Amino acid sequence: MDTPPFSTLIRTASQDAHTEAESSSFMSDMLGGKLGVDAYARYTEQLWFVYRALEAGAESLRDHPVAGPFIQPELMRSTALERDLAHLRGPSWQEGLVALPATRAYAERVEECVREWPAGYVAHHYTRYLGDLSGGQIIRDRAEKTWGFARKGDGVRFYVFDEITNPAAFKRGYRELLDGVAADDLEKQRIVAECKRAFALNTAVFHALGEEFPLSA
Ligand code: HEM
Repeated sequence: MDTPPFSTLIRTASQDAHTEAESSSFMSDMLGGKLGVDAYARYTEQLWFVYRALEAGAESLRDHPVAGPFIQPELMRSTALERDLAHLRGPSWQEGLVALPATRAYAERVEECVREWPAGYVAHHYTRYLGDLSGGQIIRDRAEKTWGFARKGDGVRFYVFDEITNPAAFKRGYRELLDGVAADDLEKQRIVAECKRAFALNTAVFHALGEEFPLSA
């Protein structure tokens, strides 16, 4: 039997983990409009640590045969996150900001992949950026409605990819990159395993946030 394209393999293999992340109580409560804007800001802070890890290391991977093709400036989110945080928390948003332990563990794993295993970095790249281009748009819509942010404006800039005019086409191109990834079958399996780990790291952050913002009702 023919092996399915890698983009199909990684999507199928992470489907259960996706459902789990998506249905975590923090996500459901946040998207259900049950949490205050403080919870959203706290979540955005955690994302900043994760994207800093993903993007601070990106430049060093630009020429890497496996990870290099994935490094695309139009995906970069750190600046958008910083603008959102300045809006949500004020100009001193960074003062005293500390990552939750689960977030630190996530960022550290990303940094480790950047340093030691760029193919593993691809799994983290896929898990975040393709997700942001997909379900991220649902989150933006809910955030705008729940907390009254201007459409695609301050507070939700993280979800707005200004330089990607056709997300569906971009995602097709991204899947082609995955399909052509310069890795053998064993390495591809390792990338898939790392993708599951990336989802688990996200879910752990949601659980930590869920503990911080339990529903009072
Ligand atoms: C409540 C939150 C979420 C919703 C509503 C959601 C929704 C979606 C939807 C509708 C798609 C399919 C889009 C398409 O086929 O083009 C998708 C894809 C994806 N999501 Fe999510 N998602 C959520 C959370 C997450 C989280 C937390 C992650 C990981 C951190 C994630 C990662 C992904 C990835 C990687 C894909 C691309 C799958 C592929 O086509 O290969 N999502 N999401």
